[in-house]
Amino acid sequence: MTRILAADAAGIAEAAALLSAGGLVAFPTETVYGLGADATDDRAVARIFAAKERPRFNPLIVHVSDQEAAFRLGRSDHRARALALAFWPGPLTLVLPAIADCPVSLLARAGLDTVAVRVPAHPVAQALLAEAGLPIAAPSANRSGHVSPTTAAHVLDDLAGRIDAVLDGGPCPVGVESTVLDLSDEGATLLRPGGVTVEAIEAVIGPIAPPGRGNEAAPKSPGRLTSHYAPSLPLRLDARSIGPDEALLAFGPSPPPAACAINLSPTGDLTEAAAQLYAALRALDTEARQRGLTRIAVMPIPAQGLGLAIADRLRRAAGPRCPPDGDSG
Ligand code: TXA
Ligand code: MG
Repeated sequence: MTRILAADAAGIAEAAALLSAGGLVAFPTETVYGLGADATDDRAVARIFAAKERPRFNPLIVHVSDQEAAFRLGRSDHRARALALAFWPGPLTLVLPAIADCPVSLLARAGLDTVAVRVPAHPVAQALLAEAGLPIAAPSANRSGHVSPTTAAHVLDDLAGRIDAVLDGGPCPVGVESTVLDLSDEGATLLRPGGVTVEAIEAVIGPIAPPGRGNEAAPKSPGRLTSHYAPSLPLRLDARSIGPDEALLAFGPSPPPAACAINLSPTGDLTEAAAQLYAALRALDTEARQRGLTRIAVMPIPAQGLGLAIADRLRRAAGPRCPPDGDSG
């Protein structure tokens, strides 16, 4: 049985107690719901992979309550400190060299000598971290290969019966995952576009390298594998018109007419589109299948700011479907 906990003091205390006892609790962050476990407890972390059916080589993000806690796990330098000051709490994950004797489970780090840390901004996540007093490992709270959850109901769709509880904090305001930036060597490399834009990061630390191409088989951030955030129907990207067998994921003020359509933002606002993205994909997938449609046509998304993260997620959802163990979820 998966309990649904209200995001009040009693619910947060219960969730913290479950985490301290090695349980699994899904909780809201400003990006998406995370599936949390005590990051220092190998068995608890293993349960995350089991619940998600996620392949073990994928390292997890470790959530902590503040920069000091983050830099007790990963070694900071001037860039990490400047970015922490600018964007934490918030949707930025830093991959740092793990300190000697880092208490984070090697399973959560996939055996790497680095650790991915993030200070989430969501008040419920903050309260949970404070109450638990633990670093919390948390991937997105969906089954591997499924769309990331932005409400407690989405979490239950995928994980009911597989986890101890979900803290219901309402819909997630940002709606796409955190930006993952690798600072583990001299270069700064974008491993995953996300809630903090590249432009904003570059304004703090100067130019950063885009994700490497051509090494998707052994990526530094396995979340970059193609086919990651997939609804069940195939997607067709950059659609400017739609076919009779297609539903439409629209963006902007003048979508082509379609019987089955959801507009991510009729005003063309990328922040609103990001917040709606996963819920829209889920709803459209369901409605399209009910109507016997076979594909989702997706209108072009501007390649700037949060549009990069949205387009990245859509590209993966449209990409060739990988076998289950090639998928990081
Ligand atoms: O917004 C988010 O980041 C959400 C919420 C719950 O915080 N979490 C999330 O976690 O998206 P997950 O596990 O679905 O994605 C983690 C990403 C993956 O691309 C993973 O490969 C990368 O971070 N990552 C984690 N640790 C890493 C490490 N040590 N080195 C390189 N990449 C790492
Ligand atoms: Mg995920």
